[in-house]
Amino acid sequence: MSGHGTPIPMTSHRAEPLKGVAEVPGDKSISHRSLILGAMAIGETRISGLLEGDDVLDTAKAMQAFGAEVVNHGGGKWSVFGVGVGGFAEPDQVIDCGNSGTGVRLIMGTMATSPITATFTGDASLNGRPMARITDPLALFGAKAVGRKGGRLPMTIVGAAEPTPVRYVVPVPSAQVKSAVLLAGLNAPGKTVVIEKEATRDHSERMLAGFGAEITVEDTEEGRVITLTGRPELQPQEIAVPRDPSSAAFPVCAALITPGSDVLVPGIGLNPTRAGLFYTLQDMGADLTFENPREEGGEPVADLRAKYSPDMQGIEVPPARAASMIDEYPVLSVVASFAHGKTMMAGVKELRVKESDRIDAMARGLRANGVTVAEGEDWWSVEGLGPDGVPGGGTCESFLDHRIAMSFMVMGMGAQNPVTVDDGSPITTSFPIFEPLMTGLGAKFTRA
Ligand code: S3P
Repeated sequence: MSGHGTPIPMTSHRAEPLKGVAEVPGDKSISHRSLILGAMAIGETRISGLLEGDDVLDTAKAMQAFGAEVVNHGGGKWSVFGVGVGGFAEPDQVIDCGNSGTGVRLIMGTMATSPITATFTGDASLNGRPMARITDPLALFGAKAVGRKGGRLPMTIVGAAEPTPVRYVVPVPSAQVKSAVLLAGLNAPGKTVVIEKEATRDHSERMLAGFGAEITVEDTEEGRVITLTGRPELQPQEIAVPRDPSSAAFPVCAALITPGSDVLVPGIGLNPTRAGLFYTLQDMGADLTFENPREEGGEPVADLRAKYSPDMQGIEVPPARAASMIDEYPVLSVVASFAHGKTMMAGVKELRVKESDRIDAMARGLRANGVTVAEGEDWWSVEGLGPDGVPGGGTCESFLDHRIAMSFMVMGMGAQNPVTVDDGSPITTSFPIFEPLMTGLGAKFTRA
């Protein structure tokens, strides 16, 4: 798979006890949405704590291409001067969303109900991912899509000149699909209704309400019914982006498997639709506590304290929890390798269509490091070898997937022998300070 440039091989050696405070960057999902909704409001939205990873920077560029002004003040502070709902201009260049499924899918939704045409592309990973899940509902609004075989990017969307609101039952548990439909519904007259059978991350709903849209959420027998009234005048906001629980997962899990560790990861967003990993780790017997719980910017937040946990037990992860930890299964499977007994992860078919096929990518890398893995289409299991039992010594492919690369770097911290990742360059998509942050705690990383 061709990448973003020169591959960066990285090796993770057995770490010193991890100590200190890990200030992870802003939440990726909330960062994308801040820029996009800021572009749909009229006036200046001020954002602090924006994640300045490649994925989000690509979304910032895209918002400029559609006519919003985006200003970087430095230090994570940004402003977006929005053009209002229905105010998007037609971009004069192809929109390159890099590695980001969230970016491209949310932006496609946002422009699909305006009378403009835009062409989207991405890197080799993104161009291999399914887009029909987005273009199917967008067609109901009246938008047209022409892409490559199998509904892949590069793809052109012709926005609907006279969009009609839709009622859509999301067929897969996907916050990206839900959000794309809601964002399209913003510029459709009348009420757009989205129904999800399983709750997925609800940042779009929360933020739409914060920007002043009329949006209701009801739990019914059919599922979560979200109703949005189209054509609101969105009010610009001040947004403080909480730190990303999906990034916090890496120092937390590293501390659990590295002898002698005690790490504080402050200010982590603990929205219940995102926090599943931490409850799963507690169920496994991890020494992980939530300190100083509070609310910041409409999201629940706490400081996480993680200590070395040699007595973790493998468990069956409840499938109902999958959506709330979908991005965390790769690093969970690393922790599971250091637990006692088997960890079973079922109901996770969506992992096969992420930045990589994450079940396949992790299974290959875990096996290369001496761990036994079994897998089926929508499940996989890992045989734990105990805290001192993971041989390591393998080389893993990251498949252009930041979370695969970071998971194996974590594995090397507790394994008997160093673990090498063939290409760590994708890490900058979501966690640009991963290397200095982890080595600051006691990790030993080398670049080949
Ligand atoms: C995201 C939703 C999830 C997640 C992705 C971010 C979002 O994808 O995997 O990293 O910000 O909406 P799906 O909605 O496709 O499950």
